[in-house]
Amino acid sequence: MEIKIAPSILSADFSRLGEQVAEVTKAGADYIHVDVMDGQFVPPITLGAGGVASLRSWTDLPLDVHLMIHNPERQIESFVRAGANIITVHAEACLHLHRVIQEIKLAGIKAGLAINPSTSLTALDEMLPVLDMVVVMTVNPGYGGQSYIPEMTGKIARLRQILDHQGLAVELEVDGGITPKVAPEAVKAGARVLVAGAAVFASPEGIAAALHHIRQSISQGSR
Ligand code: DX5
Ligand code: ZN
Repeated sequence: MEIKIAPSILSADFSRLGEQVAEVTKAGADYIHVDVMDGQFVPPITLGAGGVASLRSWTDLPLDVHLMIHNPERQIESFVRAGANIITVHAEACLHLHRVIQEIKLAGIKAGLAINPSTSLTALDEMLPVLDMVVVMTVNPGYGGQSYIPEMTGKIARLRQILDHQGLAVELEVDGGITPKVAPEAVKAGARVLVAGAAVFASPEGIAAALHHIRQSISQGSR
């Protein structure tokens, strides 16, 4: 079973973001998770489409852009032009969610839908058939370095059951508080893409060793 790791740049050194992206690419990451925050949907402000465009040339990996912004429909075109390969919007931020997902897919890139810890899986019901990825937030959005919310493991397992029962090839990504300690539990529940920010970019063991440590914990956890 292939488990993908998507390091989140939120905990990277923003003064040398390109180099950090190149380093984590070389270390074997599968996606680069780019957390876009508008200061409205969540309090912090991070970077926009220009920031994503500046990262494009530093990696060949898919840019997994997580829009934690209100009215994402106004930004889709600029993030597509910036080189995003996956754009994830929040169910809680969209009035016309189906239209937003349609627009992302019409642009020829993958569409993801994220749900906050308090949002029920039922919010996904009508959208699952048209999604490429679902992101289960395992922390409350806005900050890196938070602790995994253990109640989300049951939610991941229920979603895995729904996807398998319906035979849907939708990627199940988990986002927030993923560490070598927590990763096996999330994978056992059914996660297939793990976002890891602080566990990679803020790890004292360095980026390559941190990435290896997460993969090792998963392979040992599966024995
Ligand atoms: C939080 C972001 C996450 C976060 C993950 O709002 O969506 O991607 O940066 O970082 P860690 O792994 O440090 O929780
Ligand atoms: Zn994220």
